[in-house]
Amino acid sequence: MDRKPMTLHRLREMHASGEKIAMLTCYDASFAAVLDAAGVDALLVGDSLGMVLQGRSSTLAVSMEAMEYHVRCVARGNRTAWLIADLPFGSYLAPETALNNAVRLMQAGAQMIKLEGGGWTAPIVALMVERGIPVCAHLGFTPQSVHALGGYRVQGRGESAAATLRREALELVQAGAAMVLVEMVPADLAAGLARELAVPTIGIGAGAACAGQVLVLYDMLGLHPTGAPRFVRNFLTDGLGISGAIREYVAAVKGGRFPDDAVHAF
Ligand code: KIV
Repeated sequence: MDRKPMTLHRLREMHASGEKIAMLTCYDASFAAVLDAAGVDALLVGDSLGMVLQGRSSTLAVSMEAMEYHVRCVARGNRTAWLIADLPFGSYLAPETALNNAVRLMQAGAQMIKLEGGGWTAPIVALMVERGIPVCAHLGFTPQSVHALGGYRVQGRGESAAATLRREALELVQAGAAMVLVEMVPADLAAGLARELAVPTIGIGAGAACAGQVLVLYDMLGLHPTGAPRFVRNFLTDGLGISGAIREYVAAVKGGRFPDDAVHAF
């Protein structure tokens, strides 16, 4: 496929025109080339690599060095997809530290930095944006806070929790976040955010109304040893092969066939 490199401007155009954004996590050069060729709009070098590559029970021990290494690998294989990288746990405790670590990931090849957390991250987002770094805010279930949240639980349930999440999302967009990823929240809350926020929302376990969708690559290929979460669909079925599965994911997201709220939403 001959396509132009993705830009933030193009992502904004897609959002404005209602074209869904298809995103997947990616950790190496070979998969980056396959995902890019299959039409995935954005690759996320997620700190989920701590779980799916390193076999850990959470993302907490993922280092900056590991993130830099995998961003470099993905950047080598990728040609046109937008490349987002996670700041790992403990790497953005203060604005200056966050900025320095974001710079390391941008120099490794990232085009946007994602960080988890609510209102307390607004000054960090503002500083990064001021220094020319596009930012994606990650709200809802934030895996780096798994212990504080009491496990892998749906967030934003009930009026007060939903109002807090909505307020934090608006605050982060006001601070300059160009994208908001929402994980494991009720579909109606995510639909409200998709309507209210001026920037694209990317959902994972957040229903069909988001501007785009993301899944952990290994989950959507059925590589989930302990059973995939409810919001995941295994696309590696019916003899499609990996490339075919990725193309089907892109087509399903863009065609509004994934997620199916009757099956995948909370
Ligand atoms: O690290 C990651 O892969 C993520 C996704 C779950 C969105 O943040």
